[in-house]
Amino acid sequence: MNYEAKTFNLPENITGLSQKQIDVHLALYKGYVTHVNLLLEQLDKLESENDLSYAKMEVRRRLGFEFNGMRLHEYYFEQLEDGTKEMPEKLKSFLQEHFGGSEKFFEKIKEVALTRGIGWTILHKDPKTGRYLISWVSDHELGMLSGTEIIFALDMWEHAFMVDYTPAEKGDYVNAYLKAVNWEVVANRL
Ligand SMILES: [Fe+2]
Repeated sequence: MNYEAKTFNLPENITGLSQKQIDVHLALYKGYVTHVNLLLEQLDKLESENDLSYAKMEVRRRLGFEFNGMRLHEYYFEQLEDGTKEMPEKLKSFLQEHFGGSEKFFEKIKEVALTRGIGWTILHKDPKTGRYLISWVSDHELGMLSGTEIIFALDMWEHAFMVDYTPAEKGDYVNAYLKAVNWEVVANRL
């Protein structure tokens, strides 16, 4: 079974994120889906070889990068679907309880997002303890917290903003993205 690229019902004219930026990024997401399928196909062929070839090991090693690259973009674009909505009360109370309010949560997200390098800023739920954690994940997989559920994912690769912003302006990209989020989608993941 092949993975298929999802389509997203994204609003037009998002303030601070141009259509060109979104289009470039969606095309890149589709590339991850293609490469997950390609990698799994190549790995299938290599698995039939009965040896410890480096080719097989290296293709296997690559799966976390391609798979998470695909999946994290789905969280990222789903969060923008159906336009900006007011933050639901449920999410407001959640943020108040766990982060001292939405403004403090946004500040923490921005601080983590400005970690040097490429990667993701993620809000996780640890279902074993009910704890919520904000993390930095380098690339798509390095530092990913095992067994957690992803509540919110912010792409901090340069391709996510460089049509519209320079690297020095990436804080402005974060502000624009946070304003464009459909918080209803995030609330439904709690
Ligand atoms: Fe991306």
